[in-house]
Amino acid sequence: MKNLKKTFSNLEEEILHYKKEKNAVILSHFYQDEDIQDIADFVGDSLDLSKNAAKTKADVIVFCGVKFMAEVAKILSPNKTVVLPDLNAGCSLEESCRAPAFEKFKKKHPDHIVLSYINCSAEIKALSDIIVTSSNAEKIIKKLPLDQKIIFAPDRHLGSYLNKITNRNMLLWNGTCIVHETFSSKELVKVKVRNPDAKIIAHPECPENILNYADFVGSTSSLLRYVSEDNSRKFIVATEPHILHQMKKNEPNKTFLVAPGDDGSCSCSNCPYMELNTLEKLRDCLLHLSPEIKISNELILNAKKPLNLMLKLS
Ligand code: 13P
Ligand code: SF4
Repeated sequence: MKNLKKTFSNLEEEILHYKKEKNAVILSHFYQDEDIQDIADFVGDSLDLSKNAAKTKADVIVFCGVKFMAEVAKILSPNKTVVLPDLNAGCSLEESCRAPAFEKFKKKHPDHIVLSYINCSAEIKALSDIIVTSSNAEKIIKKLPLDQKIIFAPDRHLGSYLNKITNRNMLLWNGTCIVHETFSSKELVKVKVRNPDAKIIAHPECPENILNYADFVGSTSSLLRYVSEDNSRKFIVATEPHILHQMKKNEPNKTFLVAPGDDGSCSCSNCPYMELNTLEKLRDCLLHLSPEIKISNELILNAKKPLNLMLKLS
């Protein structure tokens, strides 16, 4: 009997076939591998990805990013099937802030409202008043009364940067991003000395000793915008290096250098969580619609309020 099993000439073809079959959309963050970014329907920062997840007409959202991002997609589109190629793709910021400890901390400061960075679990979102991303945090904080007491969680580097630029004194949770924390200011200065014509650009998850050297600080999408709009021909980029893929695509005639870590190399700044997602796992999760993001209705309801407020205010 004739074998009717469909054969594919490559993995990309297979993914596109299952994507059509399942009426799925593939969303990717800028920190994903180049091959994943290239096959995605939309590549963006945390804010644009959540907006996209909220309005998609697809039945299935394949989220190529980390778990908290896929959870946001599920919270904003609870009737859709949301899958993540690898369920272990977490985030050190999320891990630094667990709900029981955070609830205790919150109870100690009942006169504060809670502003949480989107890099946190659905449980932390449900304990928050407003969610922010690095794209809209400054704008949202500036809309709050100056005398409003605020807890900011979980990123203390982003929090202290926001305190500085908005002239606030938000109470900070002590979490950090293990990727942005590995950049070395000493090594960065060496690269700058060798490339005096280069501008330093940094994500606000970097510690202050890196941000102090930056000509521009912004979210992944603002960094991308900046390198296109600025007249410089060379940039030293202090964020996860996979973003260089879009920078090089958009600006093939400009030069991009990755900010170094302690040993002077850049390989330590790859996000180990984002790296768990591969094209093979993307194919498998489309085929089996698993691993799926599951969140209880109650948690969805509670986490949706501060997320919707973010979308309204940004
Ligand atoms: P962006 O919102 O700037 O894309 O940042 C997401 C992130 O996880 C940075 O580490
Ligand atoms: Fe989390 Fe840092 Fe990875 Fe972003 S780069 S997902 S903040 S560990």
